[in-house]
Amino acid sequence: MNYRHAFHAGNFADVLKHAVLLGLLDALTRKPRPLCYLDTHAGRGLYALDDGPARRTGESGGGIARLYAARGLPPLLRRYLEAVRACDAGTPPARYPGSPWLALHALRPEDRAVLCELQPREADALNAALGGDPRVHVHRRDGYEALPALLPPDEKRGLVLVDPPYEAQDAEFAAIQRALAAALVRWPQGTYAAWYPLKLTRTREPFWRWLRGCAARQVLAVELAVRPENSPLRLNGCGLALLNPPWRFDQTLAAALPALARLLGEDGQGGWRLQWLRHE
Ligand SMILES: C[S@@+](CC[C@H](N)C(=O)[O-])C[C@H]1O[C@@H](n2cnc3c(N)ncnc32)[C@H](O)[C@@H]1O
Repeated sequence: MNYRHAFHAGNFADVLKHAVLLGLLDALTRKPRPLCYLDTHAGRGLYALDDGPARRTGESGGGIARLYAARGLPPLLRRYLEAVRACDAGTPPARYPGSPWLALHALRPEDRAVLCELQPREADALNAALGGDPRVHVHRRDGYEALPALLPPDEKRGLVLVDPPYEAQDAEFAAIQRALAAALVRWPQGTYAAWYPLKLTRTREPFWRWLRGCAARQVLAVELAVRPENSPLRLNGCGLALLNPPWRFDQTLAAALPALARLLGEDGQGGWRLQWLRHE
């Protein structure tokens, strides 16, 4: 396992994923009952932008950095920017928050976060960054294996984020499908968000086919492309499959996606997609 998210922190894929994550948690925390957030591939929780891998790749320059100067952002992107600023208000910021940090920012004192990370170095960093928060449980284990074992959560409410590194390429889709299928048996009414890369337009097709027939009542796909999806070698865009999303969450996304595609698209080539794959 070679993947290190530090090289990609704050890139366009993080912007989409993290804005959607905050939107989902804000919607879920509108109801008073406590909830559980489960991150199957949590990463280290916090990333340096001013040093090391992220500085070398400069990927955040095509991601979060483009939002700082933007005016008139839609509510979901304003909310995301506020959260990133709460992590580091510097200009430019020295640190960028990972999904566990952002989730804790959105959760309430009565909520819980269960964070799985397999790489010992990343899990140790995650523990050091966030393990002191009484709401947090860090598991140094395979998130796919942990998922069915940890479901349903005692709270019977919450969100699962599945954000793997896709080192296994297409095999990763198969692993996600197996894990989601097992999870849905144990917790059919849970909300799930699974991130996926877009390289060629057809990359998503087998996954979408599976999602259309899965056991969730509703499945919404949200995608952002920063350039044409015509190369198998580059990350041209990305998407999230949202299983059982909160009521009217499609409207929240529809209000944000055009601005996101405009800001993050390369040379005006940005695009977006929002599509119900299942809607009972
Ligand atoms: C894309 S990164 C996660 C980024 C994080 N979710 C965020 O948004 O800040 C994927 C992470 O999964 C970890 N990982 C890889 N395989 C895993 C597995 N089977 N179970 C848990 N973690 C895994 C990697 O070490 C890496 O830190």
